[in-house]
This record gives sequence, C-alpha cells and structure tokens, in this order.
Amino acid sequence: MQTTLIQKYNIPGPRYTSYPTVPFWDKEGIALPDWKETVKRAFRESNDTEGVSLYIHLPFCENLCTFCACHKRITKRHSVEEPYLDTVLKEWNLYCDLLEERPKIKEIHLGGGTPTFFSAENLKRLIDGIFKRADRFEDFEFSYEGHPNHTSEKQLQTLYDLGSRRNSFGIQDYDPVVQKAINRIQSFEQVKKIHELSRKIGYTSISHDLVFGLPFQTESSIRGTIENTVKLMPDRIAYYSYAHVPWIKGVGQRGFDENDLPKDHEKRHLYELGKQMFFDAGYVEIGMDHFALPTDSLYKAMESKKLHRNFMGYTAGKTHLMIGLGMSSISDSWYAFAQNEKSVEDYQERVNKGLLPVFRGHLLTETDLIIRQHILNLMCHLETDWKLGLTEKQREAILDRLTEMFDDGLLEQVGSKLKVKEKGRMFVRNICMAFDLRLLENKPQTRIFSMTI
Ligand SMILES: C[S@@+](CC[C@H](N)C(=O)[O-])C[C@H]1O[C@@H](n2cnc3c(N)ncnc32)[C@H](O)[C@@H]1O
Ligand code: SF4
Repeated sequence: MQTTLIQKYNIPGPRYTSYPTVPFWDKEGIALPDWKETVKRAFRESNDTEGVSLYIHLPFCENLCTFCACHKRITKRHSVEEPYLDTVLKEWNLYCDLLEERPKIKEIHLGGGTPTFFSAENLKRLIDGIFKRADRFEDFEFSYEGHPNHTSEKQLQTLYDLGSRRNSFGIQDYDPVVQKAINRIQSFEQVKKIHELSRKIGYTSISHDLVFGLPFQTESSIRGTIENTVKLMPDRIAYYSYAHVPWIKGVGQRGFDENDLPKDHEKRHLYELGKQMFFDAGYVEIGMDHFALPTDSLYKAMESKKLHRNFMGYTAGKTHLMIGLGMSSISDSWYAFAQNEKSVEDYQERVNKGLLPVFRGHLLTETDLIIRQHILNLMCHLETDWKLGLTEKQREAILDRLTEMFDDGLLEQVGSKLKVKEKGRMFVRNICMAFDLRLLENKPQTRIFSMTI
C-alpha cells in the first residue's frame, strides 16, 4: 500500500523554504527602492518586539563533495577570506545605513559552503564587525555549520566566546563506499573528536546532517551510519532526502550515475528505517526531515507551536525580518524576498560600488501572504485553518486538488482545520503543492525541483 502511494506521489516538487518558491518569483524582479521599503517596514514593525535575524553565507570549501547542491566555491587559497569578509561587512553597513535605529539581533546563522573554512581570527572579526552597528536581542542565538575535517578547537572556542551555543556538522554517511562515491572521506573518530570537544567547551545544541538516497546506500550501510550517529546523541539530526539536481548550473553533481542511486521505494525505506532508529534512540520527528531530542529548543518550539521555516530550514524562533548577507544569500522581509548575486565576483563588484547586491526578488501580493501562511502552517504544524483569508473559490479549488489525498487517508478535516494524518506526513510537500497557486498557474516545462520523496 505504502509503496503504491510513494509511486503515486513521488513527483518533482518544492521544499517550501519560501512561498512563492524561488522559480516562481516575479520575472520582473524587485526594484531596489521597493525592497528597501519593505525592509524598513518590517524593521519598524518588529525590531523591538522580536528582533532581526541574520544569515551570513560563507561559500568556500577546500574540497568538492560531488553530491552537494549548495552554493559554494572550491579553493584551497585562504587569501580569499579577508576580501570576502570586508565585502560582507560593507553590505551589512549598507543595511544599517538604511535602518532608523540600531538593529537588535535575535539570531545569526553562518551557513555555507563551509564557515569553518575561515580562521578563528577572521570569524571573530566578522562577528565583532556585525555588532559594531547592532545590539543583541534577549535570548540571542548564534549557530554555524562546520565541516568535521576542517574545524579546530580554536574555532569552536572562539565562536563559543562570541556567543554561539549551537553548531551543526555535515556527516552525510559513514560508509566507505558511499563516502568514496561522494568524495567525502571522513572518519567516525574525527566526528567524535569534534563533537566531544564541542560538548566540553559548552555547546548545548549540536546537530548532525545525514543524507539518505545517496549513491550505493543500502539498508545495512544506513543502519551503520545511524548506529554511529546515535552513539554521540547529537541534540538535533537533519535527515535530508538527497536532492539530485544535476541540471542546476554550478552545482557540479558528478562521480556517480543515476543507476547508482537507490530507487524510489528503496529510498523511502531508508527514510523509514532511519526514522524508526531515531525514535528508538529517543528522538522526536520535527516537521519534515528533522529530528530532535525532547530537551532541544526545536522540540520545545514545535510543542508550543512556535516552529518556523525559512531559507535556513526549521528554526525555533521567528522574526519578520531576516537579512541575508554574502553571495547567493536570500533575505526575507516578510513582504518581499531578495536574492544576492550568485558569484563571488559579481557580489563583490556590486557591494564595492556601494549598492545592495540584490539580483532578483519578489514582492508578495495579498494572496501570496495568505498562501504563505497556509504553507508555513502545514510545513511546521502539519495543520492549517481554512478561516485564514482564502476566497470561497480558492478554497474549493484547493479542496478539489486534495480529494485524492483525502481518499488515500493522508488528511482529515476537523472543524475549520485541515490536518495532516500520520500517514500523510511524508507527503506534506505534495499537500502544500495543492495550495501553491503560482506553481499551478505556471506548470514548469522542464525539471526544476527535486523529487518530493
Ligand atoms: C552547507 S552544507 C554543511 C556544512 C559543511 N560544508 C559540511 O559539508 O560539513 C549543508 C548540508 O546540506 C546538505 N546537502 C548538501 N547537498 C545536498 C543534496 N544534494 N541533497 C540533500 N542534502 C544536501 C548536507 O547534509 C550538508 O551537510
Ligand atoms: S557538502 Fe559542505 S564541504 Fe562539501 S561541497 Fe557542500 S558545502 Fe562544501
């Protein structure tokens, strides 16, 4: 039964880290003055009450992992660090000049690429530079992504001293055959060392990223990877579905072939196996593809319905304004999205001319804002409320598209609420697609999304 459902619903679809999703942003883009206006509006409305989030993209990695779909630049030349950080701080100053008072920072996340490519001294210079023009909001949170092979005790300590209590490490898979295929050789001993050092220093939330659906993964290889993972008991685990997107320019997925990937039902089995092993070890499932211990803030956020989803994935705290700094970063002012130039050179050139390096964006319409809230509700809380703003006609069209999912027992209607049943959890992306008016109005002619399962 489950296999039939998987075959039926495993279609290309968005991961809904935003609505509208990036390929459906307005073709005309967003004019810089409009983008700035929405930033100022969101800032006025929320700086005092919830603060501002910062996402800083640090794109460099020393080696290419051939499965990776992130925006990165491979280099061993560390001379790139300083000019890059100078540009990020210039960009930050451009935003600060725009705002009427000092921002109160609720959250900083350093993503990549590999933030721990940068030396401890440079990471300190970056964070100190940010706080020259800003203050910390109460319960300030600072997290970063680290590569276990390229993270030192000095970096862990420096970032901790700067206020970080949360880090995440890319693990992907411990099996030697899989590691060779994805060009990512890293031992359990190395991960254990860096994980235990983080604990010793005082980090209270450590996350491990695993990926299922990678080339040559089997039931027994995944079992081994998860057994190792739960030996260390990270507070959070991201268990990502491998996104095979070789058609995206600059991604460079290679070194294996589609025939080396587990088939649909095998891939889903790897997910189910992992999920059961996480449950047995005491983890709870959070939204889609995340697990956390009940002591972690992500679980608490889910329990208190404060879980939020943005371009960084799931987060425990929501802010209306998230400023993305660095090449390819996406900013969200709630009323609009804006993405930075995607190459390091174009990004630096724009900022050095004193311009915000936005190259595309989208101003949300009233309808976008309503649909966005429904999709967020479904992705974060697995339910939404029909009372939320749709017209009768829109609601009926959505219900019509959901008919088969009701018939398949994935959803239920309780009063004015639409609830995802346990059986429907793995199809939440498909459920959101029924609400996605932009996708429905402009069905893509070519493959632009990874598969939903
Ligand atoms: C920016 S990387 C992590 C930090 C660091 N560069 C590292 O590799 O350890 C963020 C995470 O995205 C996930 N990721 C990258 N490419 C992916 C893909 N094609 N499908 C699914 N997850 C992917 C990986 O789990 C990776 O750890
Ligand atoms: S997985 Fe991490 S280290 Fe590997 S290429 Fe991607 S961003 Fe770089």
